[in-house]
Amino acid sequence: MSTLESAELIATSGTFQRIGSVAALLGGDPLGAVVDGKEVAVFVADGGFVATSGICPHAQGPLHEGEVEDGVLTCPWHGWTFNLESGQCDEDPSLCLERYEVKVEGDDILVRV
Ligand code: FES
Repeated sequence: MSTLESAELIATSGTFQRIGSVAALLGGDPLGAVVDGKEVAVFVADGGFVATSGICPHAQGPLHEGEVEDGVLTCPWHGWTFNLESGQCDEDPSLCLERYEVKVEGDDILVRV
């Protein structure tokens, strides 16, 4: 997938907001926060950071409590899995996580929805 195609999949409308620290994210669990009224989650994947909707599209499970392994997020409630590069759900390909822009400034992780 080209950079342009990746960028087109990411929703943006607001300004970047700090949701946590790099140290905290690298230290263990994914980050969860509310940005402009939307719940978001940030994960470490593929050597970088990925920001997605924080709500599972299956039954609204809290995705920041999920586990990530080899770029695949597993929802803590029913175990459905999502490819963090594409956002697509393995159990139901019609479901796709909304993804957001994420950037790092110093130790701050910033997300724009
Ligand atoms: S709520 Fe996420 S798999 Fe059911």
